[in-house]
Amino acid sequence: MPGTCVIGLQWGDEAKGKLVDLLTADYKIVVRYQGGANAGHTVVGGGQTYKLHLIPSGILNPGVTNVVGPGVVLHPPKLLEEVAGLRQRGVEVGGNLLLSDRSHLVFPWHVLEDRLWNDQPIGGEMLGTTLRGIGPCYRDKVGRTYAIRLGDLYHDSCRERIERIVEFKTRLFAAAGSRTGSQGGTETEGSEFQLDAARIHEEFQGYAEQLRPFVADTTNFLLDAVESGQPILLEGAQGALLDIDHGTFPFVTSSNSSGVGVSAGSGIPPKWIRKVIGVAKAYSTRVGGGPFPTEQDNEVGQRIRELGREYGTTTGRPRRCGWFDAVAVRYTARLSGVDGLALMMMDVLSQLPEVKVCVAYELRGQRIDRFPGHVDDLRQVRPVYETFPGWQQDVSGLRRLEQFPSGARRYLDRVSELVGCPIEIVSVGPDREQTIFARRDP
Ligand code: GDP
Ligand code: IMO
Ligand code: MG
Repeated sequence: MPGTCVIGLQWGDEAKGKLVDLLTADYKIVVRYQGGANAGHTVVGGGQTYKLHLIPSGILNPGVTNVVGPGVVLHPPKLLEEVAGLRQRGVEVGGNLLLSDRSHLVFPWHVLEDRLWNDQPIGGEMLGTTLRGIGPCYRDKVGRTYAIRLGDLYHDSCRERIERIVEFKTRLFAAAGSRTGSQGGTETEGSEFQLDAARIHEEFQGYAEQLRPFVADTTNFLLDAVESGQPILLEGAQGALLDIDHGTFPFVTSSNSSGVGVSAGSGIPPKWIRKVIGVAKAYSTRVGGGPFPTEQDNEVGQRIRELGREYGTTTGRPRRCGWFDAVAVRYTARLSGVDGLALMMMDVLSQLPEVKVCVAYELRGQRIDRFPGHVDDLRQVRPVYETFPGWQQDVSGLRRLEQFPSGARRYLDRVSELVGCPIEIVSVGPDREQTIFARRDP
């Protein structure tokens, strides 16, 4: 199996980290290929909980090479913090971590820009980014003129580039500062935006030295690996509904977080990706702004949030919660070319008196089963639900599907039918052991 990828099919936090850690047993290479420190992937193992942001979730498995591909935007201090945190807990991080020399770097100005411009209401609703500088860094990458890649840190031209960018960004921030001033902002707000090129250069030279052992030409490393037939596991970040091109734009992240981004972000040719596992929760969550047709902004949503401990791994924000949306997941499963579903958090639903699944939408009086492409339409849809009586039996200790209450099995069958994919994995808790493989490949 040359290339298998794990893709979130909702708005992120589908428990990709748990799944990647678990599947890593069958791989020697794990690759993160898009997003950045906006991701927060939780891995629970040996009674310990690890929260990973930039480092692939294969890192806890000895003998595995963890690759951060060119499509990831890398914030050096965050990465070093993560390395130090893992080492402190006895996890080996050395030759098992490779960072692409082509990955773009998040600089202090990106974080400021995120606060200044990305954290603004769009059509009356906040995007609510993670404030990790993700959008601004990708914006500069695509714009090219003001971008710096990891490999650039090891070239003499880097100082001049930083100076030139700081000069430009300073002018930009000054203009923004005067604008906020005229809208009631203060001098202090303005002065926060001051950037010192010499200091930033020195700081990043320090990071460059610390990161040097990890920096590699991951593109050729992965091409060698695919040509020699080594199995590779690719770890998506965010979820397909946050995809910049195919998600709920503009309430999305700035990378291709659906299956379509795997090849571009990693450098692995599309034909080597042989299997796609789509990860979804048995319900839905979303952090930040944007339409969410099945949201339960009520007691049901609160109950799910408490039972599922639905608080952001990266920002700690309470996640918005709602019912499983089969219209949305069918769309993202098709878009990502999903072969099999991993349905997570089945234990959370087990305590509810009834459980609903959205099977279609109503838009301006018409029943539709396609996910609308425009955010205004999505805001207007009314979900059509099928209601299941709750099975109200703790399933967190179960290890085989045959042991599941019949209500839970009916729910799984219906979800699989609506999404149009077989369910391969069912998760009943955060631990590795709390996982049921419904269909193991021979
Ligand atoms: P990711 O970003 O997709 O890796 O997901 P997060 O780590 O942000 O959020 C998933 C959360 O659910 C983590 O706290 C996991 O430990 C936890 N988790 C994973 N699988 C299950 C499960 O089946 N049941 C429950 N109750 N929690 C789970
Ligand atoms: P993982 O990998 C959930 C959301 C933010 C915001 C929008 C844009 O843990 O599933 P950004 O900082 O990317 O510009 O924010 O995307 N978002 C996530 N939501 N899980 C994530 O990652 C997310 N990464 C970004 O909340 O709505
Ligand atoms: Mg997460």
